[in-house]
Parts: sequence; structure tokens; C-alpha cells
Amino acid sequence: MPINVQQFFLQKRGLGYVAPILCTMRGLAEDDIEEAVKFHKRISNEIGDEDIFCEENTIAESVLGEGLAIGVFAEGRIIGLRSVSYVQDHLEEAVEDLKLDPAEIDNVAVMDFCVIDSAFRGNYIQFFTYLYIESLMYPNRYHLHTTVSPRNVFSLKNVLKCGFIAVDFKKKYGGHNRFVLYKNLRKSIPVSTRGRKQILLRNHDYHPKVMEAGYVGYKTKLKPNGMVMQYGRPLDEVPADGR
Ligand SMILES: CC(C)(COP(=O)(O)OP(=O)(O)OC[C@H]1O[C@@H](n2cnc3c(N)ncnc32)[C@H](O)[C@@H]1OP(=O)(O)O)[C@@H](O)C(=O)NCCC(=O)NCCS
Repeated sequence: MPINVQQFFLQKRGLGYVAPILCTMRGLAEDDIEEAVKFHKRISNEIGDEDIFCEENTIAESVLGEGLAIGVFAEGRIIGLRSVSYVQDHLEEAVEDLKLDPAEIDNVAVMDFCVIDSAFRGNYIQFFTYLYIESLMYPNRYHLHTTVSPRNVFSLKNVLKCGFIAVDFKKKYGGHNRFVLYKNLRKSIPVSTRGRKQILLRNHDYHPKVMEAGYVGYKTKLKPNGMVMQYGRPLDEVPADGR
């Protein structure tokens, strides 16, 4: 995988201290698979709830060519991972979730996961690793699919910030609630922020209803009674700003 190495300092929040630590971001090679799988397993064990985060992943397949996988390394170990899957079953599921033309399947990518060591959270790694991997997929893989649990508020916020919109809400992976999110890298889908609706994330029955009424979710916001998803109607094109 011809991916450049990038170096930067990130703030580590250790036990009783904070410190800038030199980090390296690069594509994963075959030799990294074992450590990456272990790291993913450690984080999913820490979460310990399949309703929020699934242990299943396609790290090995992505590294070996059926996708992309990048890692952030610090202090001689992995502290962040992101992977994209081009595995056929995942692509077929994405085509179905997004109601895409099956002929488009080779242009689909499934954003498999992003996991960060808790000592390095708060550095926007989910956001900037996304931008990096997006640039590697563009312009060939342009129908991007992902799913996020309504209980995974940190991830949901970041995925929406990355420009995904929530287009469906359904049971996935053996009965877990998930928002289905979409981003098209070739055709921007603007969303009107006028006349928006706000639905509490925990009101699971309402999300499919507003989506059926033609709304898409574009942002989360903390309200006094809980976190809401803000919904707006998609527009045909990006409006002229009148400047
Ligand atoms: C979701 C995740 C990748 C976000 O990590 P990140 O990019 O470092 O998060 P951000 O930089 O956006 O963090 C913003 C703030 O939320 C906090 N935060 C992020 N994730 C958090 C978590 N899981 N628990 C508590 N606080 C969290 C950060 O500490 C930061 O706080 P600050 O404003 O005081 O600095 C990370 O929480 C994670 O690895 N979670 C477990 C795996 C997961 O759910 N992945 C996403 C689905 S694939």
C-alpha cells in the first residue's frame, strides 16, 4: 500500500500527567496485522458492549488488499487504527442499506471502524484519519457507507462532522440499533438547516419516521433533556451564497 508516513505530536493524557508525544501515521503492512487485531480486541473488550461497538472487523483483509488500513503509532505501539473494507459481502450490504444501483458496487467503500487508545483520545484522530483515508479513496471509491450506534455519541458526532448524513435507522448485526450513514464524494448532498427537526437519540421509534418523511440527520447537539439528532431536508444542489 503506497501510503506516505506522516509525523506529528499529539497530547497524551497519562495517569496524572499530560504530555505531547511524537506520533507516526502510516499504512499498515502484513507484519502489523497481529498487533492491530490485538489492539482492536483490547478496545472492544474495554467497551464490552456489542450494542455500541462490534468486535468483528476486516483488518487482515483490508491490509491484504480488500480495503485500506492505517495506523497511528506512538511509544513503539499502535495508539489508533482506521480501516476501510472492500470485502464483497460488506459492499453488498452497503448497496442494500443505501439503496444504490448494484452496478455501482465497485465504487462503494465501507468505513469499517476507527479505534483510539483512551490516553490519546481528544486529539481529533477519528476526524483527521478520516480525511486522510478519504483522500486515498477519492475519486474511485465515492459511495461511502458506515453505521453508528445511537449510543456511541462520540463517534456519531465525528462521523457527521466528516460530512456523512444519516439516511436510515435500523437493526443491524444481529439486532443492534444503528444509524446508516452516507457520503458521496462525487456529488455533494447539501442539507437545508431551515425548518429542521430535532429527535432525541434515545427515541429510537422516531428516527425512521422522520427519515421516511424525507429528512436526513446532519448533526448531533446536547440539549437539557439529552443528545438530539438534527434533521433537515436534502437539497438538489449547493445554494449560491449570493456574494
Ligand atoms: C470514537 C473515538 C474513535 C473518538 O476518538 P477521538 O477522535 O480521539 O475523539 P475526539 O478527539 O473527537 O474527542 C472529543 C472529546 O470527547 C472525548 N472522548 C472521545 N471519545 C471518548 C470516549 N469513548 N469516552 C469518553 N470521552 C471521549 C475526548 O476525550 C475529547 O474530550 P475533550 O473535549 O475534553 O478533549 C474513540 O472514542 C474510540 O476509539 N472509541 C471506541 C471505539 C469506537 O467507538 N469507534 C467508533 C466506531 S467505529
